[in-house]
Amino acid sequence: MEIAMTTMKAVRIHRFGGPEVLMLDDVPWPQPKDDEVLVRVHAASVNPVDYKIRAGSYTVKDDQLPYTLGRDLSGTVELLGTRAHTLKVGDPIFAFIGVDRGTYAEYAVVKAMEMAAKPETIDHVQAAAVPLAGLTAWQGLFDHGQLQAGQRVLVHGGAGGVGHFAIQFAKAKGATVLTTASGTDLDFVRELGADEAIDYKADRFEDRARDIDVVFDLVAGETQDRSWSVLKEGGILVSTLGAPPAEKAEQHKVRAAGYRARPNPAQLSEIGQLIDGGQVQVAVARTFALADAGAAQTYLEQEHVRGKVVLQVADKT
Ligand SMILES: NC(=O)c1ccc[n+]([C@@H]2O[C@H](COP(=O)([O-])OP(=O)(O)OC[C@H]3O[C@@H](n4cnc5c(N)ncnc54)[C@H](OP(=O)(O)O)[C@@H]3O)[C@@H](O)[C@H]2O)c1
Repeated sequence: MEIAMTTMKAVRIHRFGGPEVLMLDDVPWPQPKDDEVLVRVHAASVNPVDYKIRAGSYTVKDDQLPYTLGRDLSGTVELLGTRAHTLKVGDPIFAFIGVDRGTYAEYAVVKAMEMAAKPETIDHVQAAAVPLAGLTAWQGLFDHGQLQAGQRVLVHGGAGGVGHFAIQFAKAKGATVLTTASGTDLDFVRELGADEAIDYKADRFEDRARDIDVVFDLVAGETQDRSWSVLKEGGILVSTLGAPPAEKAEQHKVRAAGYRARPNPAQLSEIGQLIDGGQVQVAVARTFALADAGAAQTYLEQEHVRGKVVLQVADKT
């Protein structure tokens, strides 16, 4: 469907660099094709991948500039593409979209396989915090880690965006959850359901974690290196930060997997149901206006953040 050329605000980069390269531009509305819809963005979350893309260290290349940042959103359907949809204008949805488009904008194009109905019990700011971080946690624990009820999982970085969902999903599955976090976040991760909360600055997690089935690594580096020994034979280390070295896994008689999270509407819908069922809470540390996206990224990158950072795009969510 061709739509009238209407302009919107979008936060774009025209070159790679620090937060100063973020520009609040006036751009035409993107046009939904086929099974896509145009979504009025009520809120978009800020993820580490956004400042990695901004810095030029992740996937996006020069020939894709200018580039609109942002990978997930919560909003309402504004326009439908050409193919028949089960959705109608005004429906609230939340989504994790491909890296070829952005959500730091007043409107965004979303494909059918990237979205699910927004959970009813939370507002758009909270809902926007869920898709990328939630699906990353889900796929790391269950698709790659194959975590089962009764098993023991160690989540590194349990108070962050991905980690705070991982703790709750693992508990909902019936696993025993150990997690590392800063000392000031120990009560927070216990409230989320962690059975054992380990202060990563004060204690060595290897002294307290034993016979682990799945290490979910959101930190990498030395933390990952020290994690092999806590796994039981045949266990698995799953990392969001690249493929862990296969020779280390072999040496410790365990398995290893690195992965990139992908849109998955069925999983997103299941996560939404856990939220509506009261089994999963969404922690939003702070919200920023769209125009302050640079400050929001700096806050996530440099400050101590508990849960998620969200851009509130529409006045009323
Ligand atoms: N592969 C993928 O598809 C994918 C998807 C999502 C995320 N990621 C990556 O996964 C990582 C985590 O993402 P996120 O959104 O959860 O980031 P985040 O919200 O910034 O959270 C990171 C957490 O890690 C904690 N932390 C830092 N150093 C630690 C250590 N040595 N031991 C234990 N915890 C530590 C931080 O706590 P303090 O603030 O207390 O230090 C913070 O709570 C990022 O690097 C991100 O780029 C990858």
